[in-house]
Amino acid sequence: MNARIIGTGWCLPAFRADNDYLATLVDTSDEWIRERTGIRARHLAGEETTVSMAAEAAEKALARAGREASEVELLIVATITGGTDTPSAACRVQAQIGAKKAVAFDVNAACSGFLYALHMADAFIKSGMYKNALLIGAESLSRIVDWTDRSTCVLFGDGAGAAYVEASESGGLLAQSVGSSGDKWEVLSCRSRSGANPISGAQPAGYLTMDGQEVFKFAVRTVPRCIGEALEGAGVRADEVKLFLLHQANLRILQAVAKRLEQPEEKFPMNLDECGNTSAASLPILMAQLDEAGTLKRGDLLALSGFGAGLTWGACVLEW
Ligand code: ACO
Repeated sequence: MNARIIGTGWCLPAFRADNDYLATLVDTSDEWIRERTGIRARHLAGEETTVSMAAEAAEKALARAGREASEVELLIVATITGGTDTPSAACRVQAQIGAKKAVAFDVNAACSGFLYALHMADAFIKSGMYKNALLIGAESLSRIVDWTDRSTCVLFGDGAGAAYVEASESGGLLAQSVGSSGDKWEVLSCRSRSGANPISGAQPAGYLTMDGQEVFKFAVRTVPRCIGEALEGAGVRADEVKLFLLHQANLRILQAVAKRLEQPEEKFPMNLDECGNTSAASLPILMAQLDEAGTLKRGDLLALSGFGAGLTWGACVLEW
């Protein structure tokens, strides 16, 4: 049995912040941001929260699948911005959508989070423990970026994407390659903002910090490698893959990966121009938007890949 995606959904906050808007906050320009990243705008949460966006995306995914929340057995939210240290965002989404029967928990693997959630769902489904899962990537990165640091605040956005998966005898997830490298954790991190205790004294507020060039090098080396491993595991050639759905970090990373895989850039759909980098949400938002547009057809071979803080990475090949 494989995990097969049956329905998808997405949600973006209402407020659209274009690059010119950001230039009113920090010393930057539309030209600099577009040339270095491909990003034109991103959506930022106002009233919305990670949980409210996750719940909306999840309900859309269930509706597209024609399933009820009460049927869901496993509910995983991939996020680094759940809003509460405890309980998990997944438990709050569970309450909001009424997925009473589900086992609900979060996974913290940053921009690889959705791939990690898919990895776990497939393992649970293969073991026979659960027959379905609701997987959500959701973030409010605007709450953890330093809005005075132009080198990071221009990159990120908020949103949520969801996929409802079921056990299937055919198609679905064919092969995966997932990994982590904790020794590089400082390349991309956000220290906890938890208050101090009487012994440790005051802690400075944590914001997202990043060594952009190290992340770039990591991504262009690791993503083609793990996609190659997943392709090999599935017995699929790169040119048989209809689309490569990658974490939407940066236009130049996607172009470099396409080049290394010797595949045309048209096979790497993008929404980062409108969404920015939404970490764990980026891949499921992209997938749900393509699904909604009718671009994904049953039987299509797709390669998915996420990469990010940890450092973490993952790729899978699936038959839609
Ligand atoms: N506007 C204007 N100037 C800026 C801005 C900005 N928003 N940000 C930085 N600069 C300036 C810097 O101050 C620096 O100026 P200086 O030369 O006078 O010191 C100059 O631009 C170059 O800065 P770098 O940080 O060296 O810029 P770089 O060319 O490396 O581009 C970028 C930065 C786009 C982040 C690049 O490193 C990159 O593509 N990294 C990939 C990582 C990535 O995309 N991370 C996203 C999140 S992580 C993830 O999702 C896995």
